[in-house]
Amino acid sequence: MSIAERKDSHLALCLEEQVELPGGDATGFGALRFDHDALPEVDLAAVRTETELLGKKLAAPIVVGAMTGGTARAGEMNRRLARAAERCGVAFALGSQRRMLQDPASRDSYAVRAAAPELRLLFGNLGAVQLNYGVGVAELRALVRDVGADAFNFHLNPLQEAIQPEGDTRFAALLPKLAAVIPELGVPVLLKEIGAGISRTTARKIAALPVAGVETGGLGGTSWAKVESLRAADPARKSLGEAFARWGIPTVESIAACRQALPDRVVVASGGIRNGIEIAKALALGADAVALALPLLKAAEQSWEAAAEELDRLVQELRLAMFLTGCARVSELRARPLSHARDLTAAPRT
Ligand SMILES: Cc1cc2nc3c(=O)[nH]c(=O)nc-3n(C[C@H](O)[C@H](O)[C@H](O)COP(=O)(O)O)c2cc1C
Repeated sequence: MSIAERKDSHLALCLEEQVELPGGDATGFGALRFDHDALPEVDLAAVRTETELLGKKLAAPIVVGAMTGGTARAGEMNRRLARAAERCGVAFALGSQRRMLQDPASRDSYAVRAAAPELRLLFGNLGAVQLNYGVGVAELRALVRDVGADAFNFHLNPLQEAIQPEGDTRFAALLPKLAAVIPELGVPVLLKEIGAGISRTTARKIAALPVAGVETGGLGGTSWAKVESLRAADPARKSLGEAFARWGIPTVESIAACRQALPDRVVVASGGIRNGIEIAKALALGADAVALALPLLKAAEQSWEAAAEELDRLVQELRLAMFLTGCARVSELRARPLSHARDLTAAPRT
């Protein structure tokens, strides 16, 4: 299957099939609660969600997560999502630009600056493993330049590549290559997982790299083992994908691990974040911003306005969570304690 066919089949599967973990709370957010403050000592109207990420001012700490590019359908999705991000003043991340390296005609599908000229923060994207398949500084610089990216995501997806029949699985000796190319890109670089999470072990390795930060891509949202299992024709591969559908680090654990191992870098939380309360919890755990992918893709399938409405909903929910924890500014959430939710009905009677 060509990369273009694969991209469209990923879009179709993510939109039409159940690719999120069933049960809904593999992320770990459901087990945490804020201390509700009935005396918040702040006016709701005074609650502000503005923040700065990688030197860019955003209306809210939200990134439209990295998803797609490379085909006509993917291009339409990118334009709708970028327009929604522009309208709402949040960041936007392109999906893997690998197709651009093979087929210059696919460039239009990534050219979101034309559709959204006021976009505040645009991320480029490529699989880090491509550094082991011939991609070097010249290609990376061209990817950044051609789309006008302000920052760049290298994705780390060993699980997905291992389930794909055409997967690129030569992951040996990537760290020195990353260390060599990152300073040459000319924009800040994040490393991101895509749904199995960045663990403490990985975050410690990343700490030695000249990266601006990470995106957690934790377990609990879109499962790429599941997507690849659905796509596989071969029964052995199908069952391999199913067996690893729950493999990984829950988003909540990944945020905490990344914040601890990378105290001075940017941490973007992602993986199954679905509402503004979870955004507030991610920020309280130490994230600087969050990224959402699948829910925004589903909204953009309808229209760019529907994607913008979904972003507006998230911002309103975040504002209310801030109000109810007495936070006038996003940065104040970091100091708000989270405790483990307890089922009082199950507590023993005294
Ligand atoms: C259709 C689709 C395509 C994706 N393609 C990419 C990609 O090309 N590069 C990347 O870094 N992440 C990609 N992702 C992963 C997301 O950026 C994100 O890490 C993951 O989906 C978890 O977030 P979610 O649970 O909010 O969907 C993709 C996600 C979706 C839904």
